[in-house]
Formats: sequence, structure tokens, C-alpha cells
Amino acid sequence: MTQANFAVQTYWDSKPCGSLEPTAWKAPAEFFEAHAELRYTREPEIAALAGFEKWRGQRVLEIGVGMGADFVRFAKAKAKICGIDLSRRSIGLALQNAEINDVPPTLLNADGESLPFPDESFDLVYSWGVLHHTSDIDHALLEIHRVLRPRGECRLMLYHRWSLVGLQSYIRYGLGRLRPFTPLSKLIAAHVESPGTKAYTAHEVKSLLRRFSAVEVKPVVTAYDLRIGRRRFAPRWMLRLIPDRLGWFLLIRAKK
Ligand SMILES: C[S@@+](CC[C@H](N)C(=O)[O-])C[C@H]1O[C@@H](n2cnc3c(N)ncnc32)[C@H](O)[C@@H]1O
Repeated sequence: MTQANFAVQTYWDSKPCGSLEPTAWKAPAEFFEAHAELRYTREPEIAALAGFEKWRGQRVLEIGVGMGADFVRFAKAKAKICGIDLSRRSIGLALQNAEINDVPPTLLNADGESLPFPDESFDLVYSWGVLHHTSDIDHALLEIHRVLRPRGECRLMLYHRWSLVGLQSYIRYGLGRLRPFTPLSKLIAAHVESPGTKAYTAHEVKSLLRRFSAVEVKPVVTAYDLRIGRRRFAPRWMLRLIPDRLGWFLLIRAKK
């Protein structure tokens, strides 16, 4: 693992994704259930992109499972799923989630930049909110391309630079800290989640996915566009007023 990914691992070991939600005090079974309910209510875009039911009997790799909510949904839909995460603590939680939900615990602590699978092993590689955290996304995409079968699919969510959240980051960490000339990419790398986080333009994503065909990149407005840090600053109905092109999430589909 690179030094930069060691810092990413340390960050996510200290706060596995979703583990700090207000439901965290509940007993494990209730906790995972409440976390999943909140996740799919707040972010219906996840199920729409993953298409869990579509992958029955097919080989799926999820990169960056976090606490394993999507992993469990794929497994319950009878996909032959493997999941990996750089964070040992996240994998520990995902294993617990798999056990509680009685699905096969095919989970590994591994780095998406060096996938421990043979060439052409999967029909789908899925990754939600992960690859903008890895230090070398180009390398990770090369690995995804390698492990996909010909015409296999890749479905990703990556952060979008020219978005309301990007603007908030500039106001908060650039203007607010008297650093108006610091590039937005540097502000995001220094302040948004794990060290070195990136946010891309749709054009950059297309260029990163140059080895793939049928590449679709769609910005979407989600509940995260109404939040500053963990706090929501406007009612949910306001999402309808914000154009999708200003959303923080880029939903991406591509074929090998
Ligand atoms: C924002 S969380 C998203 C987790 C999960 N997909 C979700 O939506 O809840 C980012 C996750 O990506 C993992 N991650 C970051 N870089 C990774 C890499 N190179 N390989 C595997 N996992 C990685 C982190 O450990 C963390 O669990």
C-alpha cells in the first residue's frame, strides 16, 4: 500500500463510513437495519445506480464496502458478490453486518489499486463514494478494467467539483480562512473527509475512463447538497429547486 493510501486507511479506520450516524448507539442488528433504512431513504440514487436485483447469479465486486449495506443488498439479491475495503475496521463491521443478515461473508481487507483477483473475474464492478479517496485513481481504474470480463460493467459514484458542495468548500475553507487563491482541488483534498480527497468534472471522469466504452456521467442533486458538514441547512423539498448539474455526486456507468 502507498503512504498516501495508508493515511486514507487510517482515516476510515478511525471513522468507518456511517458509523457516526445518530443510530450508532443501538445494538448491532438494530444498528445495521437503522443504518440501511436511513441510507436508502436518504439516498434513493444508490439503489437506482446499483440495480441490486439485476445481478442475480452474476459475479459482482464492490470496492469500498464501508459497513457493508450495499454488499448485503447485492448478496440478498443472490449476486455472487465479493467486497473489499482498505479499512480493517470497516471490513470488521461489514463482516458483522453479513453475519447478522445471514449472507456469505465474502469480504476482504484489500486495496482497490491492487485487486487480489484474476483477470476477467467479474460481470460488474461497483463502487459508491470510494475512488475519489484513493491516492491513484488511474491505477484503480486500470485494475477494474483488468478484472472485468469483456463487456462487463462498471458503476461508480464520484464527487463532482463544480457543485454546490464544491462552492461551500471554497467559501468555508478558502474565503473563510483568508485563502481565496487556493485552488478548490487543494481545499477539498485538505478538508473533505480523508486526506487527499478529489472531486472531478464530468470531462475529467470521461478522460479517466478512456479505456472503457459507453461511458455515461450524470451529476445528481442529493440530500448531501443541503448539508454543511453533518448538518442540514435547508428542508428536503428544496432539492427540487437545485439543478442536477450542481449536484455533488456524479453517477457513472461504463462498459469494458
Ligand atoms: C465514504 S466511504 C464509502 C463506503 C461505502 N461505499 C458507503 O457508501 O457507505 C469510503 C470507503 O472507501 C474505502 N476506500 C478508500 N480507498 C480505498 C481503496 N483504495 N481500496 C478499497 N477501499 C478504499 C474507505 O476505507 C471507506 O470505507
